[in-house]
Amino acid sequence: MQNNFFLKIKFSYPILFVVIINSAFADQDSIKAGEQKAMLCTACHGVEKSVNPEWPNLSQQSKKYLVDQLHAFRDGKRKNALMSSQAMGLSDEDIEDLAAYYNSIPADKGSLQADDDIIALGQNIYRGGIYERDVPACISCHGPKGLGIDRTGYPKISGQHSVYTHNRLKNYKEGYDIKDSVGKNYAIMSSISFRLSNLEMKALSEYLQGLY
Ligand code: HEC
Ligand code: HEC
Repeated sequence: MQNNFFLKIKFSYPILFVVIINSAFADQDSIKAGEQKAMLCTACHGVEKSVNPEWPNLSQQSKKYLVDQLHAFRDGKRKNALMSSQAMGLSDEDIEDLAAYYNSIPADKGSLQADDDIIALGQNIYRGGIYERDVPACISCHGPKGLGIDRTGYPKISGQHSVYTHNRLKNYKEGYDIKDSVGKNYAIMSSISFRLSNLEMKALSEYLQGLY
């Protein structure tokens, strides 16, 4: 009985090894294909960093989050005058490859540019939330370095342009009434942004730009 068990383990090792190696190659292929497909995207998003602070940096972004957002743009659940048309012609495979590519690029570090009191306000909310208004600490989902949690689709938010982040938080807040029709993850962030003032959103955006 025991012998059989060890025999099984011994034989399954090489198979496991082959599976792991194969999927590593598949990932590399997908990243390469994504790099080719991203030629047009880099005009706005750059590689490590975009040139316009209204256009988000995509490098090192969680893969699942990127996939979710590209589907949302393609399906019309997320709308933007510049971006929606870009997603329209993408196949599911294009979306997987583009997400794998941007996820594989190490991000540049951002820098702090706002006054100390603004940064301090942002940092306090990021780490401790706002108790009286039921605003949870951002750190609990986005992590101490703002890297997010890939498998859940929680995005990396550190090192992002403060202008983009501020716009995005305002957008979540404005979308509060339709949040459930957009999707579960959108609803999470919309409910949180709804309880933040404009100054608090601005402070968080400035703090996040320099977090790494
Ligand atoms: C003409 C400029 C432009 C081009 C080209 C472009 N984008 Fe975008 N993209 C934007 C803008 C602007 C936004 C921000 C939209 C918003 O504020 O909601 C955006 C947002 C995104 C987001 C969401 C990021 C986040 O953090 O939520 C992803 C993912 C994305 N673009 C991927 C791509 C891919 C992949 C391509 C190429 C197929 C591409 N973009 C081409 C302008 C562009
Ligand atoms: C309960 C988990 C949770 C908490 C707490 C949380 N977030 Fe999020 N956050 C998410 C999820 C999930 C998304 C993706 C939403 C989507 O798909 O649109 C997100 C998205 C974002 C984005 C959009 C990123 C991009 O690239 O467009 C920003 C900015 C953000 N969160 C900032 C914050 C800030 C600031 C706080 C604290 C006030 C916070 N989050 C707290 C789960 C959370």
